[in-house]
Amino acid sequence: MDKRETFGSRFAVIMAMAGSAIGLGNIWRFPYVVGENGGSAFIIIYLISTLLLSLPIFLSEAVIGRKTGKGTFGAMEQLAPGTRWKWLGLLTVVSPLIILSFYSVVGGWSVEYLLKSLTGSVSTGDAADSSAAFGRFISSVRAPLLCHTLFLGFCAVIVTAGVKKGIERFSTVTMPVLFVLILLIMTYSLFLPGSGAGVTWMLKPDFSKLTASGVASAMGQSFFSLSLGVGTILTYSSYVRKDESLMASALGTAAFDLLFALIAGFAVMPAVFAAGIEPAAGPGLVFETLPYIFASMGSAAPVLSAVVSLLFFLAILVAAVSSAISMLEVGVAYLVDEKGFTRGKAVAVLFAGCWILGTFCSLSFGPLAEFKIFGETFFSFCDKLTSNFLMAFGGLLFTFFVGWRMDREQVRRELTSDGKDRFGTLCFKTVWFLIRYVAPAAIIVIFLTNLFL
Ligand code: PHE
Repeated sequence: MDKRETFGSRFAVIMAMAGSAIGLGNIWRFPYVVGENGGSAFIIIYLISTLLLSLPIFLSEAVIGRKTGKGTFGAMEQLAPGTRWKWLGLLTVVSPLIILSFYSVVGGWSVEYLLKSLTGSVSTGDAADSSAAFGRFISSVRAPLLCHTLFLGFCAVIVTAGVKKGIERFSTVTMPVLFVLILLIMTYSLFLPGSGAGVTWMLKPDFSKLTASGVASAMGQSFFSLSLGVGTILTYSSYVRKDESLMASALGTAAFDLLFALIAGFAVMPAVFAAGIEPAAGPGLVFETLPYIFASMGSAAPVLSAVVSLLFFLAILVAAVSSAISMLEVGVAYLVDEKGFTRGKAVAVLFAGCWILGTFCSLSFGPLAEFKIFGETFFSFCDKLTSNFLMAFGGLLFTFFVGWRMDREQVRRELTSDGKDRFGTLCFKTVWFLIRYVAPAAIIVIFLTNLFL
């Protein structure tokens, strides 16, 4: 068997993992949930959740992935052969593919808006018109499906090229560019007259707004944002060299992810407030409100606003692609490692499966809008199933597996790179405690809150 590919450097590891982490969740959810749940009060809870909950799950996945050098299913088979843990392996092959199916539809929307920005037809400068145009677009059949196909196809090409030549190369080039883009957009946004209210919305601490469900959404957001519980971090870690520090990679990724989310917040919310619009979350924010803002603010400087609009949708597209390839890679690793597929064939099969599921998701905004599963359209069913349940469930089982099923010494050796990683050695005891007790308990709380609140 060929030697398994590895990422070439720590920079590459962090860029690939940050690529997976930084995505639509940072751009359209983070700014909104922060504002809704008490500004900087929420950010503090978010930080605590990242340290106490997300990082231990991240490290649990990283330990399993790097120790075995396998994808989710193979890793479980190797560490717990012939047991029911293989179901966790299988579940985490399937859940990122479900995420990919609906993510690719939204990725497709950003392709459309990028093209519209190129032709200067992103908005007429009227709020109602922008919303109506978006509604017409997503409920139509052909255009969104074409964009979904282009988006998924683009991801397939990158993943086919391999871990080093595809994923690593794409992430190391685009992630730094993405940072520059979002910084530029933030600067533009902060200079708009009236932008201060958006900064206040993001930062003003209001502990009274921080309810139990606010705390649960901080945990859930940190969780989604770091791509946890679905085997992406596990799979990427299986490509990390043995002498690399897992602890440093985890902290680096979490820091980039948070920094990006904050900058994205300052890029988006000040513009929203400058335009005097009530902020919303989700597609409404990115595809209805912002195009209108770019167009209306742009009357004084139309070229500048066209450029900003172009850069903004380019940023969304890049962020979405770098996350989507990590979801695809989980399935590819499974088919290549366990079923002996070539990379190309694995990608082709998964492309077909996700394309079909994604097509249902896309049509659920139009012709299939009345088709409901548990009262949800196909798109929102896939979204809720994965974001609210499968991710938390996978995360819980990964921490449980590492904390209670694996041997402490085995985990210590992996987390400290056989004692060579000084920083890892310093943190090990705390991390072990978090993995065994704190993270599983916190996930159960999120679970119950999602179920009952
Ligand atoms: N972290 C990504 C985002 O913020 C989403 C994601 C979830 C990526 C699961 C991979 C796996 O958009």
